[in-house]
Amino acid sequence: MALKRSAVRIRYAPPIASPTQPHRPPSEKKSEKPGKSTFVTSPICPLVCHLPPPKHMNILVTGGAGFIGSNLVQYLLGKAPKALGQEVTKVVNLDKLTYAGNLSNLQPIASDPRHVFVEGDIIDADLMTRLLAEHAITHVMHLAAESHVDRSIDSPFPFVETNVVGSFQLLDACRKHWEEQGKGEAIRFLHVSTDEVYGSLELNDPAFSESNSYLPNSPYSASKAASDHLARAYFHTYGLPVITTNCSNNYGPYQFPEKLIPLMIQKVIRGENLPVYGDGSNIRDWLYVEDHCSGLFRSLVKGQPGETYCIGGKREMRNIDLVRTLIEVIRELVEDVEIRPADEIITFVTDRPGHDKRYAIDCTKICSELGWEPDETFESGIRRTVQWYLDNPEWIAAIEDKSYQLERLGQKG
Ligand SMILES: NC(=O)c1ccc[n+]([C@@H]2O[C@H](COP(=O)([O-])OP(=O)(O)OC[C@H]3O[C@@H](n4cnc5c(N)ncnc54)[C@H](O)[C@@H]3O)[C@@H](O)[C@H]2O)c1
Repeated sequence: MALKRSAVRIRYAPPIASPTQPHRPPSEKKSEKPGKSTFVTSPICPLVCHLPPPKHMNILVTGGAGFIGSNLVQYLLGKAPKALGQEVTKVVNLDKLTYAGNLSNLQPIASDPRHVFVEGDIIDADLMTRLLAEHAITHVMHLAAESHVDRSIDSPFPFVETNVVGSFQLLDACRKHWEEQGKGEAIRFLHVSTDEVYGSLELNDPAFSESNSYLPNSPYSASKAASDHLARAYFHTYGLPVITTNCSNNYGPYQFPEKLIPLMIQKVIRGENLPVYGDGSNIRDWLYVEDHCSGLFRSLVKGQPGETYCIGGKREMRNIDLVRTLIEVIRELVEDVEIRPADEIITFVTDRPGHDKRYAIDCTKICSELGWEPDETFESGIRRTVQWYLDNPEWIAAIEDKSYQLERLGQKG
């Protein structure tokens, strides 16, 4: 299963703009200058004009070797074009390969000539500038981040460095490229964020929506909130066509085993006790990762620049109920291993410092305005997820050999 680096194209493939594959069809290019009749002035920002997005998409994905990023790259090179009549001509996948980045996540698309993997850091402005120009990038999907709340408690600096400064460098490189290309819709920038920027809900509060105030509580969510503000500012100040999404908790294949669902799956399979934070009553809203990917692609293609879209699974669950469900699903799917009763293996451990009580997303806007709906129910998505981890033990084994042995993180607060 492990993918050798040489099997992926690393660093600088030839520029993709070529006479046979133009950056933009000439007919569209002509009307890119503001003031032409095909433009509609944005009600939100008079600087921006909207054109139908180009059919040919050369997409820069940042963080594409991580959990959501690798699912997204596979989606872009698979189902996505058919979904909205777009043609994804190139995906440039930029990833620093931190502990969370994993080339083996890209195995299924290793031989796809449209995929170019580049090992690099979003904080490197020169590299960003070069990639945007060399690959005639028309769309950016920005996912690269330090993403684990517990790690942000132990060591917040990398979160500020990547999520805040890195996002700034990427936005600024995109702005300059966009200006050089004549502005308009020369580039679309999708900023991928989290519902955690909105803080924590009480049990009876309405779910988060796009109009909620920002109240981040962890170094992770604070750093994501800062990057959301920068993305917003780049739209309002410069007119860069930025769209932001705030999504609830994802689950699915390729999720690093420090996160709740893959961690619990491993521990159940191995007959170990299951450490549940606090009393297990914290509530999260769960979305299958491929449904998040379809929401991101739809937001990128059909979203309105300057707008924010909340994406959620419409499925709130207490952590304790989620863990009990996992035990039951694993018991059904693994016939030859005896799984001890839930009450015997669940152990309640000291809570995460500042643990947000509840997240929930009201995704009415993306559903009604952009026509997005998740395909998976929680029941179908969780079975697919458990089955994937059962089928890919070597994927977890490689991580355990290298960087993480399922230990508890985030107790420094
Ligand atoms: N996982 C979730 O439930 C969830 C929910 C909502 C939003 N998000 C957001 O989605 C994005 C992806 O999350 P994920 O769970 O896939 O994270 P992840 O930690 O699995 O992956 C992050 C990827 O970014 C790369 N990366 C980190 N720093 C980088 C840098 N400086 N330059 C280039 N690459 C770098 C890592 O190597 C890794 O491949 C993040 O922005 C996160 O905030 C995640």
